[in-house]
Amino acid sequence: MTENILIAIAWPYANAEIHVGNITGSHLPGDIIARYHRLKGRNVAMVSGTDSHGTPVTLRADAEGITVEEVYKRYHDGFVDLFQQMGITYDMFTTTHTDNHFKVSQAIFLALKENGHIFAKKSMQWYSPSAERFLPDRYVEGTCYICGAEGARSDQCDACGNVLEPAKLIDPIAKTGDGALELRETEHFYLDLSQLEPTVANFLRERSDHMRDTVLGESLGKIEAEGLLPRPITRDLDWGIPVPVEGWEGKSLYVWFEAVIGYLSSPIEMSKVIGEPDAWKSWWTQEARQFYFIGKDNIFFHTSLWPAELMGTGDKFPPIFSKLSGLPEAEPHKLTLPYDVPANQFMNLEGKKISGSRNWAVYGRDALTRYDPDALRYYLTVNMPESKDADWDWEEFVAHNNNELVANWGNLANRVLSFCYKHWDGHIPAVDVDTLRPQDLELVATIDAGFNSVGDLLEAVKIRAAIQEAMRLATEVNKYLDTNAPWKEIKVDKDEAAKSIYTALRAIDSLKTIFAPFLPFTSEALNKTFGYETPLFGEQFVETIEDALGTHTALRYKGTEGEQWKPSELQPGKAFNKPSPLFKKLDKSVVEEERARLG
Ligand code: MF3
Ligand code: ZN
Repeated sequence: MTENILIAIAWPYANAEIHVGNITGSHLPGDIIARYHRLKGRNVAMVSGTDSHGTPVTLRADAEGITVEEVYKRYHDGFVDLFQQMGITYDMFTTTHTDNHFKVSQAIFLALKENGHIFAKKSMQWYSPSAERFLPDRYVEGTCYICGAEGARSDQCDACGNVLEPAKLIDPIAKTGDGALELRETEHFYLDLSQLEPTVANFLRERSDHMRDTVLGESLGKIEAEGLLPRPITRDLDWGIPVPVEGWEGKSLYVWFEAVIGYLSSPIEMSKVIGEPDAWKSWWTQEARQFYFIGKDNIFFHTSLWPAELMGTGDKFPPIFSKLSGLPEAEPHKLTLPYDVPANQFMNLEGKKISGSRNWAVYGRDALTRYDPDALRYYLTVNMPESKDADWDWEEFVAHNNNELVANWGNLANRVLSFCYKHWDGHIPAVDVDTLRPQDLELVATIDAGFNSVGDLLEAVKIRAAIQEAMRLATEVNKYLDTNAPWKEIKVDKDEAAKSIYTALRAIDSLKTIFAPFLPFTSEALNKTFGYETPLFGEQFVETIEDALGTHTALRYKGTEGEQWKPSELQPGKAFNKPSPLFKKLDKSVVEEERARLG
């Protein structure tokens, strides 16, 4: 049976452009793992979307003096464009502002409520008498009552990473300049996480054999230190998903409560657009390995809040959702739980924290106007912040590009293909594979073993180690060529040279596949040069979807079938196409030019 793999990637807020730190933090690792599993022939859904609600987005709209709708659509379109250019192959990249997501979120809320995990409670919240409204979350800033840092938001402190109780904030001020604030009473629904704490803790312990220590440590550490506390999951905001309870008009579901539900709603939306309404069940009501790619600031929401929502829902989601959507009655069924949450640390830029407001950032779309996607992907992969914070350094970018990508891998492929194209007239040497020499067979075996060694590392989401291993294999081919020197052999005995060239090309053909999850554009180009008709990957495209809330665009992907993650069986004597260089060497002047753009 084909294995089901869900690649779930953190939903970017529609309030800022995506920079290299975001790409290496979640989108790129997710894409690499998705592509690997697709090459293995597995049933992959890679999903995410624009996080369109909540105060990050409404504040941005306020600041620009335009509607929230305009803001979220503008960023969403930019995200879609970036992912297309960068080859981040979402099967479904949608938004939280869809009728489908509203209904899925409301169904989860109602299921949790029916199961007794939600209660209503009155509390004091910051209110602006001049603006005549409550100011939740990021609308209010002040001093953190836990660590004392200034500039903490009322719901979360970036300095200590704690989620805060707004009413306890010290010296609160309104971000919007809405005058003096006072505490007034309001009523909200709370998710009783304390009830669900033992289940969440068990869930985490059951995954301790494969979850990263950084992720497990933080998640279980929090539970052991302070326990899971009930959290308010509604807000006094009108931009968002209406609370599906009579008498609660004007209030919305809390952005984090509903955004994580996108991992469920996006596969459901995808199922609708492909006309297979039950397709989502492969990843959600059946056995599936679910991987969540996120940054370290999102750990709690994915290892505690989201599993608590899923487990607290019990088996009630399918029937409630069907009823809300006017679909045929559905049987109760539990939902699949996350398998792994390989959260990454952060990437800094030239030694300093990335910051949009201080113009200390390298944005994906801007970088793509000057560099090829695979060159960016390569540096972001060898430098991925898997276990500790990383640093984007322009000098290192140039060095990794020139010394590894160009010199070790690109030149290898280009040199051998060009030599063969010239001396064997555009054909792979027609050697009899039974006559290959021991050194040839040894290289073939070394490279073939790479499908297991690199594959095992990717199964375990050890992406940096995986690309290093792939590069090591390219080095092996270079060593083989240095030793056998077909450029000399050919002057003495063309048949011997043919064996070396055939062996090296077969290795390069295999390496093309091994590098494909990381460097999809150049691997695809190489696949074409070799003359294969089946591409390694499918196509990305934009789809316009209409629903009760209007229209939105989604980035979609149509894949290829079958297993391709396997050693080359390069056919001797076969014609191939004229090769061209895969990568560009970068001039050292790039470093100063790029540094001058910062700050
Ligand atoms: N929008 C959040 C952020 O940028 C991430 C949300 S992930 C979600 O930090 F899936 F929960 F939406
Ligand atoms: Zn703090």
